[in-house]
Amino acid sequence: MSSEPTAGVAMGSRRGQPLPQELLDDGEQLDSKQLKELQLDRLRATLHHAYAQVELYRRKFDEAGVRPDDCRSLEDLVRFPFTTKADLRETYPFGMFAVPMADVRRIHASSGTTGRPTVVGYTENDLSMWADVVARSIRAAGGRPGHKVHISYGYGLFTGGLGAHYGAERAGCTVVPASGGMTARQVQIIQDFKPEIIMVTPSYMLTLLDDFEKQGIDPRSTSLKVGIFGAEPWTEAMRRELEERMDLHAVDIYGLSEVIGPGVAQECVETKDGLHVWEDHFYPEVVDPLTDTVMAPGDEGELVFTSLTKEALPIIRYRTRDLTRLLPGTARPAFRRIQKITGRCDDMIILRGVNIFPSQIEEIVLRIPGVAPHFQIELAKRGRMDHMTVRVEARPGTDVVQRENAARSIAQGVKDGVGVTVDVMIVDPETLERSVGKIQRVRDLRRL
Ligand code: DLL
Repeated sequence: MSSEPTAGVAMGSRRGQPLPQELLDDGEQLDSKQLKELQLDRLRATLHHAYAQVELYRRKFDEAGVRPDDCRSLEDLVRFPFTTKADLRETYPFGMFAVPMADVRRIHASSGTTGRPTVVGYTENDLSMWADVVARSIRAAGGRPGHKVHISYGYGLFTGGLGAHYGAERAGCTVVPASGGMTARQVQIIQDFKPEIIMVTPSYMLTLLDDFEKQGIDPRSTSLKVGIFGAEPWTEAMRRELEERMDLHAVDIYGLSEVIGPGVAQECVETKDGLHVWEDHFYPEVVDPLTDTVMAPGDEGELVFTSLTKEALPIIRYRTRDLTRLLPGTARPAFRRIQKITGRCDDMIILRGVNIFPSQIEEIVLRIPGVAPHFQIELAKRGRMDHMTVRVEARPGTDVVQRENAARSIAQGVKDGVGVTVDVMIVDPETLERSVGKIQRVRDLRRL
């Protein structure tokens, strides 16, 4: 018998094996009624904590005429005001911390490409809860104690690397803390160390994939059985591309630093049907981004989160800007799911009155033969009209005719599927910028 740990996934099938009952943690074993009771207790405690310790919450609750005691049921949460990125910026750097600085064990911060970075803090308990939810996510993805986990999310102020790291350790896995960059070396390490699991942005996975091929290694022959991909939107078409080219299970992990980091929600490998929100710690709502009202279950809108157990930075009704819908639980029946995120309100391109998300372009590009899954969207002004150009890389070895056909098919696909006319340029292989972390798909030259 091999001494290798039993893989939690059955290769060769499109779905993995469910987690054995005995590996579910306490939170995962709650039924819906128990979960709701726990959520209400935790929600009330969080509202009290936030009101007592954070001036901004006190002011906002007072302005809205609500007190923590007004929350008698989960439905009462709608009476409380939203929190936005602007609130975190206004109180930069530590104004929303709800514990003395001496109790803050770690700080992370967003990159702050559009102004001041947002700063988040964690107590010892927060870090432990975070490790627990990431460990739960890794198990849901098919990870088991004894698996090696190669982590290519960036380490540093970004929550991806360290968040994944401590979760994988908590799950009893062996961590390879590769971080982002030095791609050729990462490929070598994957070949030599033989990890079962990789945690990385889907766009950096593509970069690694190309490098495997460049080094003459068949990406389907690696030890990798599961990819836990997140930190940016990716489509079902990308899942197919990654699963086929790498012969692994591609599952989705979601999170944001303001709420905790990776591990807010996770797709289960046995269903691959959207992400279960770890609702014993993070309470989700979906609201209409224009009217701010809560949407009916199943309707698409902006995802909003309230933390239920965080100490250093309790977050109340945080507007994520991410668009999705809430669905009933499947593999973890008590936890609701979010559908794969289609995009962010901020990423929506409005072109001559038509709303477009980069994910729609991704779906189309990945259907067309002869082109690689590398593309970039450029927006520019032509006279007074906005114009969009999609640059897509040809696959190596394609001739002029194949490229012309691909360009025509993509343009037609966008016209039929999205309803706008765009220019499509097929560029040579390896000419578009590669991702080492989160990819920037859109270059907007209109505002330059
Ligand atoms: O990206 C945390 C993370 C790290 C999640 C690693 C998953 C894996 P932020 O840098 O604060 O945190 O960015 C959060 O990234 O609001 C979404 O717009 C986007 N995002 C994160 N995960 C997904 C996903 C981390 N699975 C922002 N699908 C979020 C789509 C995602 N978008």
